[in-house]
Amino acid sequence: MAPVISFYGTLVAAALFVGDALAKARLPPKPNDLSTPVQERIAVNGPNAVSIAWNTYKQLDKACVKYGTLSGSLKLEACTNRSITYPTSRTWSHTVTLTDLNPATVYYYKIESANSNVEQFMSPRVAGDKTPFAINAVIDLGVYGEDGFTIRGDHSKRDTIPSIQPSLNHTTIGRLAQTIDDYEFVIHPGDLGYADDWFLRPHNVLHGTDAFQAILENFYDQLAPIAGRKPYMVSPGNHEAVCNELPALNRGCPTGQKNFTDFMSRFGNGLMPTAFSSTSEDAAAKVNANKAAALAKPPFWFSFEYGMVHVVMIDTETDFADAPDAEGGEQGFKTGPFGARNQQLEFFEADLASIDRTITPWVIVAGHRPWYTTGDGGCKPCQKAFEGLMYKYGVDLGVFGHVHNSQRFYPAFNGTADKAGMNDPKAPMYIIAGGAGSIEGLSAVGKKGPLNAWAYDDAFSYATIRFLDTQNLQVDFYRSDSGKLLDSSKLFKSHKDRFVSQKP
Ligand SMILES: *[C@@H]1O[C@H](CO)[C@@H](O)[C@H](O)[C@H]1NC(C)=O
Ligand SMILES: *[C@@H]1O[C@H](CO)[C@@H](O)[C@H](O)[C@H]1NC(C)=O
Ligand SMILES: *[C@@H]1O[C@H](CO)[C@@H](O)[C@H](O)[C@H]1NC(C)=O
Ligand SMILES: *[C@@H]1O[C@H](CO)[C@@H](O)[C@H](O)[C@H]1NC(C)=O
Repeated sequence: MAPVISFYGTLVAAALFVGDALAKARLPPKPNDLSTPVQERIAVNGPNAVSIAWNTYKQLDKACVKYGTLSGSLKLEACTNRSITYPTSRTWSHTVTLTDLNPATVYYYKIESANSNVEQFMSPRVAGDKTPFAINAVIDLGVYGEDGFTIRGDHSKRDTIPSIQPSLNHTTIGRLAQTIDDYEFVIHPGDLGYADDWFLRPHNVLHGTDAFQAILENFYDQLAPIAGRKPYMVSPGNHEAVCNELPALNRGCPTGQKNFTDFMSRFGNGLMPTAFSSTSEDAAAKVNANKAAALAKPPFWFSFEYGMVHVVMIDTETDFADAPDAEGGEQGFKTGPFGARNQQLEFFEADLASIDRTITPWVIVAGHRPWYTTGDGGCKPCQKAFEGLMYKYGVDLGVFGHVHNSQRFYPAFNGTADKAGMNDPKAPMYIIAGGAGSIEGLSAVGKKGPLNAWAYDDAFSYATIRFLDTQNLQVDFYRSDSGKLLDSSKLFKSHKDRFVSQKP
């Protein structure tokens, strides 16, 4: 969501008033050994592959990970000589890919450094593994602490008193840590750290370049205990585009803050996958999957398969007609494009057409901006670009954020509820899981339409998606601070067609 910046003038005045001694960006201290790995994150990167990325406060000639299935005997090694950064960043980013992993197996890994620990992950389930499992959808998260939200005071809105030190006590991150064995990966389509909202704190107003970096560093440090153990699959949101939200300071917008620069540096470079080769015996499926892999543009649009599910991550910000963050888009950001004309939608169609439902019965599409939401403000250009193809290829669930609360919608197409409801609908069911926590606070639910089954804005929350079997999927929303179950729904899909291609 776009922040309310009407009190910007007040903030500048406040910053000038408190003076330079207090007005300083909260950059985290650098470790004594600058090669110490920080901000670890991992991703599913192939049927038998996991990628690992991390940052250091110096450039490295060679960055390596040792790994194996026994924590005390890490005999395998993967390295990279790419150590990348961008102007204004204090850190360098490294990515290695561990291939030929046994499926659904616990691996231990150690990023090679004098100051690193042995971590672990479970390798991906192969496509077609019908074992039940769960994933989390966490969107619009943001940093916790002085430059982000706190959980004191009015629990339903952000508290502007910066009295809690940055720590792992982030309500949603805390819950993800406590329930670490209950889910296998996380999808986070957009609005990660909210670093572009640095100007919302008076102490940052005169220190934009440092404040932007400080929030990014703090956020990815806070996220690392989760993202370093569970594949953390991202696509972009408007807060990764940044810069134009504060017209008055835009001329001074640091280069590193423009056009998804940090997002690409962190999640590009081979961390996110393209699209998997099809394991279907159908020749057209193989051709379409290869076409999708060639057209994919990670970390903007890409797909992966995991057990019973095929997940497509999309970019609702750029790269389709009237995309909100593109040149001429409603947000005025002038970012992208990241592909050739129509590349994202050609990818999307080829990818959806490749899915053999006898292998991956479930199909999820995850993007940042929803078209179904309470109140006003659904993304019409996004709906126009993506909804028809989602219906045609029988997508089961659309997962979105951007609106800062949790919402569930009945299966719907073109603004009309599917008559079958949750019992084998042809149209996708939709959720919004945008209430995970951000400096901008929660958004009031507002006016509910007939498609809306449930909505919640009392506290930070997120969604767990459970693949119960090939025909039953359960979506549970949890309150982040208490872990209380807020809403639970079950979708039945017969998945009787091997390849879905249906007309409205
Ligand atoms: C990095 O590694 C690649 C592949 O091993 C090699 O071709 C390349 O020359 C190396 N680059 C540098 C700068 O060492
Ligand atoms: C998180 O912080 C709040 C407020 O400071 C505190 O009440 C709570 O006990 C903390 N939770 C954990 C798990 O540390
Ligand atoms: C944004 O970055 C992409 C990829 O590097 C580039 O192709 C595009 O031209 C950039 N857009 C702007 C407005 O700078
Ligand atoms: C969607 O609904 C509108 C009316 O609200 C109708 O004009 C249009 O033809 C519908 N489109 C499709 C693809 O069904």
